[in-house]
Amino acid sequence: MSNYETVDFFMDESLIEDPYPYFEYLRSKCPVVATPHYGVVAVSGYDEATEVYRNLETFSSCISVIGPFAQFPEPLVGDDVSAIIDRHRDQLPMNEHMVTMDPPMHTKERALVMRLLTPKRLKENEAFMWRAADRQLDEFLADGHCEFISAYAQPFAMLAVADVLGVPEEDHPAFRKIFGLSAPPGGIGAAHDQSGVEVDDPASLNALSSLDDWFANYIEDRRSEPRHDVLTDLALAKYPDDSTPEMAAVVRTATFLFAAGQETTARLLAVGLKYLAEYPELQDELRAHRERIPDFVEEALRIESPVKADFRLARRAVTVGGVEIAPGTPVMLLNGAANRDPRRFEDPDEFRVDRRNAKEHLAFGRGAHSCPGGPLARAEGRISIERILDRTRDIRLSEEHHGPPGAHRFAYEPTWVLRGLHALHIEFTPTEAPA
Ligand code: HEM
Repeated sequence: MSNYETVDFFMDESLIEDPYPYFEYLRSKCPVVATPHYGVVAVSGYDEATEVYRNLETFSSCISVIGPFAQFPEPLVGDDVSAIIDRHRDQLPMNEHMVTMDPPMHTKERALVMRLLTPKRLKENEAFMWRAADRQLDEFLADGHCEFISAYAQPFAMLAVADVLGVPEEDHPAFRKIFGLSAPPGGIGAAHDQSGVEVDDPASLNALSSLDDWFANYIEDRRSEPRHDVLTDLALAKYPDDSTPEMAAVVRTATFLFAAGQETTARLLAVGLKYLAEYPELQDELRAHRERIPDFVEEALRIESPVKADFRLARRAVTVGGVEIAPGTPVMLLNGAANRDPRRFEDPDEFRVDRRNAKEHLAFGRGAHSCPGGPLARAEGRISIERILDRTRDIRLSEEHHGPPGAHRFAYEPTWVLRGLHALHIEFTPTEAPA
């Protein structure tokens, strides 16, 4: 076991499988504590993380994704490093995406996204998701087993975002190819592929730049010939001041939704299935009480938050949780730790569907940057779990891949950003598909 005093959260692979004892150690020292690496201050307390998320004046999002590895060409010194941030922020990775922006730029860009993810659009998208869930399950259910992430979670999460953006269903097979998520031979996706797009080796493609081309074409097309469809709404969407965004900004917004919404939601679905497979009584409970499925999804988000760490840069000196933070300090917000803070959640390591306050979790962040895809991710979880429970019985973990009961083993993605199962092999008994 690593020595928590000196362990490097960013490099030490021993924290990948189970980071929670380390998070607990950090909180036991102090919910806001300086770590020995990269000048990072780690926030593992719920109230303290919320405070940082909400303090836009003091904390910049310019390093939200890259964390302490952002390289500024001049040292971040002085009482207020805002001017230094502004001089160099356009050289930082991901600077073109809203998640790293601060007001007023962020406010403007976010308004564009909120015009896409309207309650009306999300409602229409639900009808698609019920169909997509069934189609996805049709591809493998009769086999009685699958690797759930590649067989269901990834293609489903990708298609859910594609549909929200109004990508026509006849183009969905091409999108699957872009992401290397092709249907098995003879599967529904393959049979309906009319895209004509040749993708020999999807893994070698830069998926997001291919998406840029697709969306540039859609937007150009809809701007010259508007139709009654979502892509036309996207192409003609304006900023709050009524100006028309450049095409590149619209394309960027659309493709970023794929980047932000896919892997995160796929891992949420995988966690849900892992708990169902580990605790068969949960399957029975949720089949008997479908109204509890949304609570189940919230508890899955709380207990295994897909975004493990989020970052802010302190512009000025500030005190959080009684701890002084100096200007220029990278602050690491550990959502997965805050969501297991016993001061907020009773017996936080226990998975409880009836947890009264599960929905207070920070899995989607808080404040101005809080996840605009939250309602979509929640609906994806609810619909997927409901359809899977409808169409299977006796979901269980594959002993061959995950070991026998009592000694289960799981591999997690080796990253410090996401908390995600690498693979989830399950077995089940398919039931008759309802008419
Ligand atoms: C379980 C699934 C998801 C989780 C756990 C998640 C988590 C998060 C978190 C923690 C943030 C805040 C980042 C920050 O404050 O620095 C965020 C932002 C964001 N998420 Fe999600 N997300 C999920 C699904 C989605 C989906 C489905 C979409 C889109 C369709 C999406 C789009 C975005 C966007 C655009 C932002 C940036 C918002 C901003 O900067 O104002 N997310 N997400």
